[in-house]
Amino acid sequence: MAALDIDWVRQQFPALALEVNGKPAVYFDGPAGSQVPARVIEAMRDYFTTSNANTHGAFLTSQRSDEVIARAHAAMADLLGCDAAEVVFGPNMTTLTFSFSRALGRELAPGDELVVTRLDHDANVAPWCALEERGCRVRFVDINPTDCTLDRADLRRQITPRTRLVAAGYASNAVGTINDVEEIVRLAHAVGALAYIDAVHYAPHGPLDVRRLDCDFLVCSPYKFFGPHAGVLYGKGEHLARLRPYKVRPATEENPCRWETGTQSHEGQAGVAAAVEYLAELGRRAAPSVASRRAALLAAYDVIRPYERGLAERLISGLLAIPGLTFYGIREAARFAQRVPTAAIRMAGHTPRQLASYLGKRGIFTWDGNYYALNLSERLGVEPTGGMLRIGLAHYNTAEEVDRLLAALREL
Ligand SMILES: Cc1ncc(COP(=O)(O)O)c(C=O)c1O
Repeated sequence: MAALDIDWVRQQFPALALEVNGKPAVYFDGPAGSQVPARVIEAMRDYFTTSNANTHGAFLTSQRSDEVIARAHAAMADLLGCDAAEVVFGPNMTTLTFSFSRALGRELAPGDELVVTRLDHDANVAPWCALEERGCRVRFVDINPTDCTLDRADLRRQITPRTRLVAAGYASNAVGTINDVEEIVRLAHAVGALAYIDAVHYAPHGPLDVRRLDCDFLVCSPYKFFGPHAGVLYGKGEHLARLRPYKVRPATEENPCRWETGTQSHEGQAGVAAAVEYLAELGRRAAPSVASRRAALLAAYDVIRPYERGLAERLISGLLAIPGLTFYGIREAARFAQRVPTAAIRMAGHTPRQLASYLGKRGIFTWDGNYYALNLSERLGVEPTGGMLRIGLAHYNTAEEVDRLLAALREL
C-alpha cells in the first residue's frame, strides 16, 4: 500500500490556493466544514446545467435527477457499508436527528429512558431531551475530565432496563476522542435499547461500517468529509420500515424516500456522490488492485489515518511544549488510535477568541468557543470564559502548516 500522495491531494482542492495577507491560507477549520475537491464543484455545476428538475417526472431532466439521487444513495451506501435503501438524505445531521427523535417518540411512553453523553455535540443531545415533553427521562453519561474520554463505569450505570435509546458520538468534535462504539451498541442492545451514533466528526478521519458496529442509526454530514452541505442518516431497514415519519400524504410511502421530507438538494446529492468518488480515487491510487468502490474507500482511510496520525503527533507534541498552554483530551502518542487529529487548547492571558483572531490574521483558520459541544465545555469549566481554541486537521493539511501554527503560538 502506497503512502498518501499529499501533492495529488492538495491539487484536488481549489480553495487551498487562497491567500490571506500574502500568505497561503491554512484550513484548520475542517471540523466545522471541510474544503471540497474540484470534482464536487463540477458535479454540482453539471447538475444545474444538465439535470435540474424535480423528481419522478416524464421528461429528460427529471429522469436525470432521479439518476443523480440513486447514484448518491449508492455512493453513501458504499461509504457506510449498507444498502442504498437504508440511506436517508436530509439538509444536515441536526435536522435529520430532530426528525428521527420525533418519529421514535411515537414509540415511547412516559418513564422510558434515553441515554446521552456529556462528550457529544448538542445535535445528539437536544433532540433526545425534546422527548422529555412526552414524559421520557434523559440520563447523561459523564466524562473523565483528565483525558476527555467517556466514563465507562458511568455509561454502564446510566443504561438500565428502562433505557430505550442510547445516543453517543463516534468521535468528539471538540477534543477528538474516539468512543468504543461497538461496546456502546452492545450495552444498548443488551437491555433492548436502540443505538443512535453521531459519526459526523469521525467520517473524515476513519472508515464507517454500520454492519460491523450493528448500530441502529448512524448519522454523518457530507460537508465535513469533502462534500457539499447535506446530512445523511443510516437506519437499519427494519426500523425505517417500522417507524412512521411525519410526512405529507402525496409523498411516496417507499423507503428511504418517505423519510426525505420535501424537495432535497439534488445538486447537493450530486456533490456528495462526487465527494465519495474523490475518496474512492484516493484509495485506488494507494491500492490499485481493489475490486470495488467500498474496498477503494476503505483503502483511502488506510492512507488517511497514518498520515493524519503523523500530523497529530507533530501538532500535539509541539503544543505540549508551549509554556502556559492547557491541552484538553488524549495527549499520549501511544493512545492516538483513540483519537482523531482534532486538538483543543487554551493559553494563559488570551481568550480563545483572541487566539483565533490572532491566528486568523496570519491566515490560519481555527475555531473558538464550544462548537455546540456545550455539555463538554460546561463540564470542563471553560464555557464562561470563551470555551477552547480548536485546531482541526484534515488529510489535506501538511506538516509545514502545523509548524506555521506552532510558530505563531510560540510567538505569543
Ligand atoms: C459531532 C457533530 N455532530 C453533529 C453536528 C451537527 O451537524 P450538522 O451541521 O450537519 O447539523 C456537528 C457539526 O459540527 C458535529 O461536529
